[in-house]
Amino acid sequence: MRTRPLKVALLGCGVVGSEVARIMTTHAGDLAARIGAPVELAGVAVRRPSKVREGIDPALITTDATALVKRGDIDVVVEVIGGIEPARTLITTAFEHGASVVSANKALLAEDGATLYAAAERHGRDLYFEAAVAGAIPLIRPLRESLAGDKVNRVLGIVNGTTNFILDRMDTAGAGYSEALDEATALGYAEADPTADVEGFDAAAKAAILAGIAFHTRVGLDDVHREGITEVTSADLASAKRMGCTVKLLAICERAADGRSVTARVHPAMIPLSHPLASVREAYNAVFVEAEAAGQLMFYGPGAGGSPTASAVLGDLVAVCRNKLNEATGPGESAYTQLPVSPMGEVVTRYHISLDVADKPGVLAQVATVFAEHGVSIDTVRQKGRQDGNGEAALVVVTHRAPDAALSGTVEALRKLDTVRGVASIMRVEGE
Ligand code: HSE
Repeated sequence: MRTRPLKVALLGCGVVGSEVARIMTTHAGDLAARIGAPVELAGVAVRRPSKVREGIDPALITTDATALVKRGDIDVVVEVIGGIEPARTLITTAFEHGASVVSANKALLAEDGATLYAAAERHGRDLYFEAAVAGAIPLIRPLRESLAGDKVNRVLGIVNGTTNFILDRMDTAGAGYSEALDEATALGYAEADPTADVEGFDAAAKAAILAGIAFHTRVGLDDVHREGITEVTSADLASAKRMGCTVKLLAICERAADGRSVTARVHPAMIPLSHPLASVREAYNAVFVEAEAAGQLMFYGPGAGGSPTASAVLGDLVAVCRNKLNEATGPGESAYTQLPVSPMGEVVTRYHISLDVADKPGVLAQVATVFAEHGVSIDTVRQKGRQDGNGEAALVVVTHRAPDAALSGTVEALRKLDTVRGVASIMRVEGE
């Protein structure tokens, strides 16, 4: 074993960074044996230097992250500060000055992964980011390496723990959205500003990363159709239950049937209770991967939190350190297929539509005609007259598979009918 240690600079020492530092210290012997050389924490860049950080030598703390990544003797930079800047500049500067990078930064990888990959390649360094998607769950390495000889056609998963917790509470405890969000906040799952999670931005960034790797093409954040869970109601959950389904916020990346394009989307969807994703409870994540030769694979586990995310970071750190010792690099960007990303309108799936309609003769036929005119075939219809005698009925239509654009056209036309008093909800049905 080499005795000269590999030097690691840590950018950020919050929930994840402090756990990375702790495991590096407590498991130093095992890490050295697995890598073939000791790893040493050579510097820790933080915003608040006065904060007491147990187990970290205060002499390592600095507020000058730029100077740290420019030192020239750093082998690996671990970036766990998040956000676009200064993370992007720090990472590219690290590559220029001889370091490889392990990052947990999903937002940056989704927005500008190409710049990072290009900089890593230019300087012959590694860029690893297992922790950016689904916390501890090994997903990036299986897609980049284990499945590199197969053809992935679909990635379907729950990649945001906060929203899964909220939807799970709405489903199992009958809680309303606000009540479930309050509980998620009290338990520390949801941030004080929950927008990134509940509006689907976090899941969309993860979908962009997964789609790019799975289909060997570039998929940016703007290519991902995004809808959050703020409009999901208790009535939607009840309706799902009646259909033998539940509601999940899904990230879905698919190769088109003709293989010439891909799609990536994040939105709430009904899935059958028999689907394995339906039993993913609380803040857990799970991702289904469908590949031509492998068939269906499912990855499940904790998708957030200090320790699980640190586990993924440490796994990358070991891999990058091994590469350094072997004077090799791991896989870089693979975007050779250059498949275009199709708009949401071209996605083909099933729909569950709840309408409030006038309860009088001919209305059902009128509604059915609108579906037919837009080429959307109806699978089932359920109607229930309201007990309050206001002359309205609740109509629930479930369709066969149809393009999203055809469904949008249908709904637009339905809204124009005098007999349709309101479109209470539209939800896609997946996983069948
Ligand atoms: N906020 C994310 C979640 C974890 O709730 O899953 C970090 O990606």
